Amino acid sequence: MSYQNILVETKGRVGIIRLNRPQALNALNQALMAELTQAVQAFDADDAVGCMLLTGSEKAFAAGADIKEMADKSFIDAYGGNFAADWHGIAQARKPVVAAVAGFALGGGCEIAMQCDIIIAADTAKFGQPEIKLGVIPGIGGTQRLTRAVGKAKAMDLVLTGRNMDAAEAERAGLVARVVPAASLMDEAMKVAETIAGMSLPSVLAGKESVNAAFESSLAEGVRFERRIFHSLFATEDQKEGMKAFVEKRKPDWKNK
Ligand code: CAA
Repeated sequence: MSYQNILVETKGRVGIIRLNRPQALNALNQALMAELTQAVQAFDADDAVGCMLLTGSEKAFAAGADIKEMADKSFIDAYGGNFAADWHGIAQARKPVVAAVAGFALGGGCEIAMQCDIIIAADTAKFGQPEIKLGVIPGIGGTQRLTRAVGKAKAMDLVLTGRNMDAAEAERAGLVARVVPAASLMDEAMKVAETIAGMSLPSVLAGKESVNAAFESSLAEGVRFERRIFHSLFATEDQKEGMKAFVEKRKPDWKNK
């Protein structure tokens, strides 16, 4: 598959997608988002891939939705055409997606980082939802995912003032999992992705699905959901292998990667 706006490669069992519109700081246009969804779906369906990694450039993960492409849209273009309704491809992936973020992750850029499962940030990363400065609000889940990630106080602060958060603040707020020096961003993010890709896939899918259930259910329902999935993993050969390997003091040899 040849893409115009992203670069795609596989290293070991990690499927890597790099946003690649340097002239526009990786601004997200319709074409890029269609390619991104396609690439995520292809890796999700590929048995040789256990985890994905999404990144951008040193200067920008992505500077938001493409303002030039959307500036002249009318209400009916946006509402009638259901603008950005199909920009949720990453959130629909079953396999985990690690975001390696350097530079600007603004607007839609922050939103697609938040669709990923783990954000590893370079110390140069800047996160924000500056849409208010353009006379709109976030449109691909920013008000919802940011609020779930950092709570109401900081989400309101960012969404209503449009200010950016640096990587240290984003880590303190719970938006990012780890902050690393910019020079080692890809190495560190790859280590995380490779670690996940080296686990038993059914457990990885189950862990991701169960953590995500926490955002959609009450505590009691979520705990019940988790327990049922936990029980079901005892039907896998990898549960037998994982526990046997522990007892025998050796590395597990997973059957279902
Ligand atoms: N859309 C389209 N083009 C963009 C862009 C965007 N979101 N962000 C940057 N670019 C373009 C610039 O227009 C510029 O192009 P030209 O050279 O042709 O003029 C090029 O990328 C480089 O950008 P700058 O010269 O502005 O670079 P800078 O280093 O001075 O500033 C920046 C960087 C602070 C990120 C600044 O580019 C900026 O503020 N960008 C817009 C950020 C933004 O508002 N994002 C939210 C978009 S709305 C959204 O995302 C809605 C949603 O939820 C779906």
